[in-house]
Amino acid sequence: MFGASAALAQSGSMEPMTPVELTAAVTERLQLTPDPRLREVMTSLIRHLHGFVTEVRLTRDEWLAAIGFLTATGQMSTDQRQEFILLSDTLGVSMLVDLLAESTSSGAAGFATESTVLGPFYVPNSPQREYGASIVEQPSGEFTAYTGLVTDTDGNPIAGATLDVWQNADDMHYAVQDPDSPPGNLRGVFRTRADGSFAFLGVRPTDYPIPDDGPVGGLLARTGRHPWRPAHIHVIVSAPGYQSVATHIFDAESKYLTSDAVFAVKSSLVRTFERHEPGSGPAPDGVPAGRPWYSLTHDFRLSQAAG
Ligand SMILES: [Fe+2]
Repeated sequence: MFGASAALAQSGSMEPMTPVELTAAVTERLQLTPDPRLREVMTSLIRHLHGFVTEVRLTRDEWLAAIGFLTATGQMSTDQRQEFILLSDTLGVSMLVDLLAESTSSGAAGFATESTVLGPFYVPNSPQREYGASIVEQPSGEFTAYTGLVTDTDGNPIAGATLDVWQNADDMHYAVQDPDSPPGNLRGVFRTRADGSFAFLGVRPTDYPIPDDGPVGGLLARTGRHPWRPAHIHVIVSAPGYQSVATHIFDAESKYLTSDAVFAVKSSLVRTFERHEPGSGPAPDGVPAGRPWYSLTHDFRLSQAAG
């Protein structure tokens, strides 16, 4: 039946097709795709996409509106802004991909530091910085000393592991969003010492809305959703022979932990920032005298690379 209907369609029959026959015709034509994975993905995509269109009985006007939405999403995207990642994030697709990757990764899932979304503000080639250095090139917000270890899943330190860090400022923006910010502000690449330790001076991150002045923001508004993300810093931790992890550290005091606009919170990634009053003890280098500051300790555990 399946093949027969498709053959009719491919042969150019003038008979009107039913929706089911049309779906079969498209998936049948894809069976010549040489790459088996592409064949599998495209066949499933067509099946689900046609199923969705059929289920909601998409109208011509709605189809045109969808084309317009995707066009606007592309036109909003630049080197500095990735509206498609925002779309993926807010639809929960980014986290779904993350969850599937984590559940199928070999070995120590559950013991390694959990991953979460990369987000749209990652910019490669952050400045390389020394142990303990500051990423604060333009002071804004509460200084925070970040320390911790990078280990394997047995707790053995990993020397020379790389931490690629980026975070937002008191004005809620990442450097890449702010033309007045030094491009390296609140970004840096660090390496662990022989004992696996890392340290850097940053600021306490703030809750922020994802950019909501584009098509994705419009969709959030029309579906009654807020655009806020709970305060966090981003870190990609990597080391030769280990699986890299793109993750966050979330602020335990954020009010958006349970309603993250991109569904990215995992409880193992939530930490409490400890406040230190001026004069209560030695402040880290870079913290001006008389200012309170925060500290946060978080260890990262990497699982061994497969194979
Ligand atoms: Fe972020």
